[in-house]
Order: sequence, then C-alpha cells, then structure tokens
Amino acid sequence: MLYKVLCLGLVSCVAAFALPPEIASLTGLSDSQFDELLPRASCPESINGTGIISGPSFPDEIDILKRNSFVKRDGVKLTLLGEEFRPVGANIYWLGLDENVIPDPSYPSRTRVLEAFADVVAMGGNAVRGHTLGISVGNPLSVEPSLDVFNHDAYEAIDFAVTAARIYGLKLVLPLIDNYNYYHGGKYQFIGWHGIAFNGTGANITPEDVGAYFYNTTSIVESFKRYIINHLTHVNRYTGLALKDDPTIFAWESGNELSAARFGDGPAPAAWTKEIGQLIKGLAPKQLFMDGSYGVFPETLDNEIVDIFGDHFYPPNITRLREGASMVHAAGRNYFSGELDWTGGGDDLTRFLSTVTEIEGAGDAYWSLFGHDDECCQYVEHDDGTFTSFYYLRANSPNVSFVDRGKILIDHAAQITGKPAPKTFQKATCPQTSFPKALIPPGFPL
Ligand SMILES: *[C@@H]1O[C@H](CO)[C@@H](O)[C@H](O)[C@H]1NC(C)=O
Ligand SMILES: *[C@@H]1O[C@H](CO)[C@@H](O)[C@H](O)[C@H]1NC(C)=O
Ligand SMILES: *[C@@H]1O[C@H](CO)[C@@H](O)[C@H](O)[C@H]1NC(C)=O
Ligand SMILES: *[C@@H]1O[C@H](CO)[C@@H](O)[C@H](O)[C@H]1NC(C)=O
Ligand SMILES: *[C@@H]1O[C@H](CO)[C@@H](O)[C@H](O)[C@H]1NC(C)=O
Repeated sequence: MLYKVLCLGLVSCVAAFALPPEIASLTGLSDSQFDELLPRASCPESINGTGIISGPSFPDEIDILKRNSFVKRDGVKLTLLGEEFRPVGANIYWLGLDENVIPDPSYPSRTRVLEAFADVVAMGGNAVRGHTLGISVGNPLSVEPSLDVFNHDAYEAIDFAVTAARIYGLKLVLPLIDNYNYYHGGKYQFIGWHGIAFNGTGANITPEDVGAYFYNTTSIVESFKRYIINHLTHVNRYTGLALKDDPTIFAWESGNELSAARFGDGPAPAAWTKEIGQLIKGLAPKQLFMDGSYGVFPETLDNEIVDIFGDHFYPPNITRLREGASMVHAAGRNYFSGELDWTGGGDDLTRFLSTVTEIEGAGDAYWSLFGHDDECCQYVEHDDGTFTSFYYLRANSPNVSFVDRGKILIDHAAQITGKPAPKTFQKATCPQTSFPKALIPPGFPL
C-alpha cells in the first residue's frame, strides 16, 4: 500500500496529532501509555507511533459468520446470527462522494474512508449510516449524472467503502434519496429532470410545494425506481456481490428526512413508501427496509413492508423519542434514531442516549463523523452551521467538547451493545496500516 505522505508545516501536523490532555484524566491512561500516544516530530514519523488500532483485528469464527449473515427483524428487535443486534455508530455522509475537498466534489481518498471506519470501531460502534453510498444523482461524478445515464466509474468509491465496512466488521444503513437539494443530489434532481421548474439549494426551494411532485408524478416515481434497480443490482467489483445481496448493508432507507413537500411538513406519502418498499424487498428480500420519512407518523405505521421507522433529533428530545418509539412498537416494528445532535442543547445527551438503550431493540447514529485529510495531517473541517461535525479524540475547544462528548458516545455504544464501558480510549492510526490478509478480497486496493 502506497501512501502519499506530505506535511506542509510541522506545527499543523503536530496539532492534528496532539492528544488532548483531558484524555489522561478521563481514561486513566498511565503516563507512559499517554507518552506513546503523543505525536512524533512530524507526520511521517508519527504514522506508526500514535495509534492502537492500526487496522481491523482478525475476526473470530463467530464474527466471520456475522459478516456473512444478514440482519433480520424479529418483531421490534433486530437480530444477527440469532443474537440481538442493536445498531449504534456514526453518520458518515461523504463516503461515496465528498464536498469537503478540492475539487468539490470529489471521491474521498481511501485513507480517509479507512480512518473513519477505524474511528467508529474504536468508539465501539457496529454501524454506519452513509448517505452518498445510496444517494448519488445529478452531478457528473454521481451514479446517475443525468436522467437514465448511469456512471459505472462512480461505483469505485462506493465499492471500496462497502467492502471496507465489511473488513472493519461494520453494518450499513443507506438512504436512497435526499429530501433536499445538495451536492449529492436528491428528489429535486428527479423533479428537474422531468421539466418541473424550481429554484434554490438545500432546503430553501421555491415554489415551496414543488417537492411533492417527486411522489405524485408517475414518470418521476418510475425514474427513481430505475435508479433503485440500477443501484441495488450493481455488482461490487471487489466482493462480486450485488449490493442487494451484500449482508454488510443491513437496511435500505427510502430516503433521508423525506417530507411531504418541504422540510418537516409531514411524511412521504405512505402509498409511495409502500411502492418503493415493495420494489426494494422484491429485489433484496434479505435486507431490511426503513421508512425514510422525517419522523414517526400514525398514518404510515400500518405499512407492512417497513421494518424500521425512526426520527432525527436536533436537538435531542426524550419526549419525542419515547412517543415515536412507542408508536413504532405498537405497530410491532423496529425503531432507529438515524441522526442526533451530540453537541448539547435540548435534553441531556447522556439521558437521551440511555433512553434509547432502554427502548427495546432501538439503535442510533450521531451526526456526523469526520477525520483527517488524505495526508493524515489536518482535520477535514466541516461546519453544518448550527451543529458540529464530530472528530474522534480531537482536542476540546472552548465551544466544542470532542473528548467529553465523545466519551458519552463511547459509553453509550458499550451500553447498547452490552459491553463494559471502556476504561481507556483506543486511538486509531491515520493512515491505517495493518490488514489481516484473510480479510482482503483479491484486487482490493490496499
Ligand atoms: C511503519 O512501519 C512499517 C512496518 O514496520 C514500516 O515498513 C514503515 O516504513 C513505517 N513507516 C514509517 C513512516 O515510519
Ligand atoms: C427562478 O428564478 C428566476 C430568477 O429569479 C425567475 O425568473 C424564475 O421565475 C424562478 N422560477 C421558479 C420556478 O420559481
Ligand atoms: C403534485 O404536487 C404538486 C405540488 O404540490 C401539485 O401542484 C400537483 O397538482 C400534484 N399532482 C398530482 C397529480 O396530484
Ligand atoms: C419535544 O417533543 C415533544 C413531543 O413531540 C414536543 O411537544 C416538545 O415541544 C419538544 N420539545 C422541544 C424543546 O422541542
Ligand atoms: C465560541 O463561543 C463564543 C461565545 O458564544 C462565540 O463568541 C465564538 O464565536 C465561538 N467560537 C467559535 C469558533 O464558534
């Protein structure tokens, strides 16, 4: 494996690798253990010296079987190889195509993808929600750059990330369309492709109700179904598995934060979700189907094709969590909190997450994980405005407590997966350097 190792300035490299002093007090690392984690003189030298997790560990037999097994739903619970499976981990939206790079967008480097998965594992996670592994329309680098034109090259990054997730023992939940108009595309691409005019980006679209055409226009629904068929039947060049046959993907989500027309104005029409769910379950009977509507709504719950319903929390709200989950449980289905703001505000994060743990079968993923750049030097900065990206073991700043809040997320992952809370933090190296040969399929670029 070849690394391009480049550090523009010693100071910035050291800063990127410096472990925050809070770690020692929070985790009880000894001075010498702590010393071992301190940055070396420069990036190149620090590569081998700063980490504990330098690659995926070799799985035991049960773990190998789990990688090859599909997550199933049993009433309100999910199971994997007969044991309960509680998905917990991070949103990593940029795995298939990233906007936080120059040129914007580009495919993320393999180094970044591997570091991010290692961070999820280091934090005790078992699952990742990855928008751009499912949503990829309307950009020249997308899976579907323009209507009914499919771009095979866009799959290299997707194939890599899906295979790497398996190598790290992670399961994926992948939304298939976005409610908004961002770089990776969403429902507005399909609306525009069918000659319906609108203006705006993100969630600020005019005319305000134009998003409804995505669900109510037969030709648009049919074209989105062709996208889904193309995507789910795509065969991963590294594993030889069609995405629909890959146990790494535990669920397809009809979309991200789908609303009736604009942001937050009720669910995607239940009849549409049913039609999309039937298509997906027909193609991929062993994978689960999640309703991607933004929130839990009584009018969608009798949709038998749906395995998982859920909600997003900006900020965490325990009342809404309990109310949503009890509605979903009354309908006999699984509950997943697909995004949540970890930074503060709303209900106390620890109490919110322990409520998720108390809800039978429930899982969650925080918004959203980033790591270092291709050279493992600087953090890739991403500002969502009102909420903040998460960086594992990044020094606390006056406004953002990555270490303290990270500990809450780590303790929660341990709790929900039934493991003891870790006493020390495991640092993931960047780049990841050690890969058990038996985990790597032939031709996989490591
Ligand atoms: C890291 O360790 C490997 C294996 O021991 C060695 O080949 C490589 O040169 C080291 N890299 C650096 C940058 O020191
Ligand atoms: C989009 O914006 C342009 C320029 O302001 C305007 O002329 C046009 O009517 C708008 N179209 C729609 C559908 O709102
Ligand atoms: C689809 O939604 C748009 C926007 O709300 C509306 O103007 C149009 O009449 C709807 N079409 C149908 C067939 O319901
Ligand atoms: C929390 O959710 C409940 C139930 O949906 C709602 O009534 C309440 O306004 C929410 N609280 C906040 C602070 O948004
Ligand atoms: C941190 O918070 C302070 C006080 O709220 C604010 O003035 C400052 O702009 C914030 N800094 C950053 C980098 O967000």
